[in-house]
Amino acid sequence: MDKAKRAAVIAGNWKMNNTPAQTTALIEEMKPLVADADCDVVLCVPYVDIHAAVEAAKGSNIKIGAENVHFKDKGAFTGEVSAEMLTAVGVEYVITGHSERRQYFGETDETVNLRTLAGLNAGLKVIVCVGETLTQRKQGITKELLAMQTKIALKDVTKEQLQNVIIAYEPVWAIGTGETATAQQANEGNAAIRAAVCEVYGKDAADALTIQYGGSMNAANAAELLSQPDVDGGLIGGASLKAVDFSKIVAAASK
Ligand code: 13P
Repeated sequence: MDKAKRAAVIAGNWKMNNTPAQTTALIEEMKPLVADADCDVVLCVPYVDIHAAVEAAKGSNIKIGAENVHFKDKGAFTGEVSAEMLTAVGVEYVITGHSERRQYFGETDETVNLRTLAGLNAGLKVIVCVGETLTQRKQGITKELLAMQTKIALKDVTKEQLQNVIIAYEPVWAIGTGETATAQQANEGNAAIRAAVCEVYGKDAADALTIQYGGSMNAANAAELLSQPDVDGGLIGGASLKAVDFSKIVAAASK
C-alpha cells in the first residue's frame, strides 16, 4: 500500500498548557481554519481541559485526545486516570510513551505497553511515541532502538487492534528544541519503525499503519517533512498552541 492510502493524521499535543477557558477560545479559533482538512485532526489536551475541548469541538472535524492513560481499570493509583474515564467524557485518542513521560515520570517500555493495551482495549485510538536521544543517535543505534521500543510497546496488541494504533517517531533531541530532524532523518526513522512492525504483523499491516513524525514540526517545515514517503502525519507540540500555525500544518497534510 502506498502512502496515499494511509490515513494522514495531524495531532496536537498541548502538553501542560491552557486552562479550560483558553481551551474553548483556541478550539473556537481553530475550527474554521481546519474545517476543510483532508486529514484527521486531533488535539490531545490536559485532563482538566477535556470537557471544554469536547464541548468546543462538537460538530467539527476536530477529535479530542488525552496525553496519557493508566493501565488499571480503577483503584488506589493517586493522580492517574483510566481508559474508561476517558471514553466516558468523549475522548477518542490517547498518547502513550511520550519521551517527556519516559524522561521525567519513570515511564518504561513495559508501562508504555500496558498503557497502550489499556487504551486499545477501551476502544481508544492510541498514538504510541518512540524516539532516540541524541546520545543514542551518536552511538549509531537509532534503528535498533526504534525497533525495540516499537516491538515492546506493541507486545500483545492484536493485528486487529493495530488498526487503532498510530506510531509517532519523536527524536528526543528534536522535541521543543527548534532543531527539527531533516526530512531524510524523519523518513529513515519512520521506515525503521515500519520495518519492525512488518516483522511482527506482516507487510499489509505495516503498510496500512499511520506513522507520524514529531519534533519541532511547524508551519514552515511541515510540507517537506510530510512529503516523505513514510511520514503520514505529525505530532505537534509548540505549534499546536497557535491556531494559524496548526492550521497551516493541517493544510500541508491535506495536499
Ligand atoms: P514540539 O513540536 O514542541 O517540538 O513537541 C513535539 C512533541 O513532543 C509532540 O508530542
